[in-house]
Amino acid sequence: MADFAAKIELWYKCHKRVLPWRETVNPYYIWLSEIILQQTRVEQGRAYYERFVSAFPTVQDLSDASEEQVMLLWQGLGYYSRARNLHKAAKQIAAIGSFPSDYKSILSLPGVGPYTAAAIASFAFGLPYAVVDGNVFRVLSRYFCVDTPIDSTEGKKVFRVLADEMLDKKCPSLYNQAIMDFGAVVCKPTGTECAICPLSDTCLAFANKCVQQLPVRAKKMKQKNRWFSYIYVLNDKGEVLIRKREGNDIWKGLYEFPLIDSSEELPMASLQQRFPAGKWTLLQRGFVHQLTHQRLIVNFYKLELNKEECTLSGIWVRESDLLNYAFPQLLVKLLSL
Ligand code: ADE
Repeated sequence: MADFAAKIELWYKCHKRVLPWRETVNPYYIWLSEIILQQTRVEQGRAYYERFVSAFPTVQDLSDASEEQVMLLWQGLGYYSRARNLHKAAKQIAAIGSFPSDYKSILSLPGVGPYTAAAIASFAFGLPYAVVDGNVFRVLSRYFCVDTPIDSTEGKKVFRVLADEMLDKKCPSLYNQAIMDFGAVVCKPTGTECAICPLSDTCLAFANKCVQQLPVRAKKMKQKNRWFSYIYVLNDKGEVLIRKREGNDIWKGLYEFPLIDSSEELPMASLQQRFPAGKWTLLQRGFVHQLTHQRLIVNFYKLELNKEECTLSGIWVRESDLLNYAFPQLLVKLLSL
């Protein structure tokens, strides 16, 4: 066990990726980086991290920002509930006066689950909590050749126990960073680097030639198709109709164009029937946007009409002001086409 930690830490000391959030123990910066990295690759997350740190150098600055400012800075990262929770948590922390410094209080912040709490507790405060993320599942399942599904109740228990046992309790920060980086760089999901792996001589999956079969998942998520018809409604004053997305989904709080969401494709004729005024043009047909478990197939229309003819609700903004509003990345892409 000590051998496992020692080898991983030695590898990390020689090969670690230099990343800005690794040069600090400021809990605010570490928290910010971990929220950004929850569903985002390091290369993409890095630019956003730099922008947040320079826009909001302290948690008080983030707390004082408007929701619009935070959403606009988050635009393009996806999973927007992260941004809303970030802002909410910043307000809580600012109200307390300092960043919480024990695991339980960190875990109670909005948007912080056991993985993120363990990361912050260990990186910022040196507390002995083992991180368990996708990288850790992969490294441990392979090294110990454990085929219990990682998404089963039993699997979660098994890997939690294993992760806690492996943790280097004297250097939790170093160990946690090391195992995650090792999973990201060497023990990768595909294109595994077993040939150069410093653990291969004691890795059970390597010995049993089953590295690529691990880790095991019980459930395969089903893909769902949804057809979106977005309407770019432009009036005779050069204004476009936008709406703030309400309801509790991944795009809550962002702006969008009037949207008809259906389980099959809607032809332009059926839209014209519903909204007969004005001139319709099909701008894009069948643009595909892949979300984690859903495939969005988008038709993008332009509808030109006089302002007083329009029966759709929303706010009119000048075309040149559209960029001041935070849109889902899907719409940013469609606008750029
Ligand atoms: N992914 C999640 N947290 C990370 C971190 N601190 N460094 C690199 N990748 C990460």
